[in-house]
Amino acid sequence: MATQDTLDFISHSARQTGQFGAQLGGLLAPGDLILLDGSVGAGKTTMAQGIARGLGIGEPVISPSFTIVREYVGRLPLYHIDLYRLAPGSALESIGIEDYLYGDGAVVIEWPDRADALLPAEHLQVRLRVTGDTQRSIRMVPVGTRTGQLLEEFRRQALGG
Ligand SMILES: Nc1ncnc2c1ncn2[C@@H]1O[C@H](COP(=O)(O)OP(=O)(O)O)[C@@H](O)[C@H]1O
Ligand SMILES: [Mg+2]
Repeated sequence: MATQDTLDFISHSARQTGQFGAQLGGLLAPGDLILLDGSVGAGKTTMAQGIARGLGIGEPVISPSFTIVREYVGRLPLYHIDLYRLAPGSALESIGIEDYLYGDGAVVIEWPDRADALLPAEHLQVRLRVTGDTQRSIRMVPVGTRTGQLLEEFRRQALGG
């Protein structure tokens, strides 16, 4: 479902997806929540790595599948959460997800649908879709006022105009 503020664009390489992520990361403030949707290999972790770079995180960001949450410190803390391996019905509260969501950093979540009920209403949804060997379509949907402003700023910086 597209809204008026939805932003659609194409990435032509993993590197470019990282660059889009870095531009987004440069704009993040404490409390911002980015939800990364898309199939395995769509580029969620690639974008998360770019976001980390944009936050000034030098340390390599790896796929957190086996740990669920990884914390990095840059200009602000980044909490990278991957819910892929979360067992259905398992208590998300037990990983303390709410401490991250309402904490002092930015949060990026892969496979966020596994935590639907717990996630704050205000977030930026990023949907990545494989459209070719090295091509991905990216749709960003802002939910909430702050995220709308964030996406507008991203649009100006990353896509021009
Ligand atoms: N335009 C692109 N954007 C992102 N990744 C791409 C792109 N083109 C090719 N790739 C490749 O697709 C894979 C994406 O993997 P990853 O980021 O781990 O995806 P996910 O976290 O969604 O499973 C990587 O091997 C990457 O090099
Ligand atoms: Mg991943």
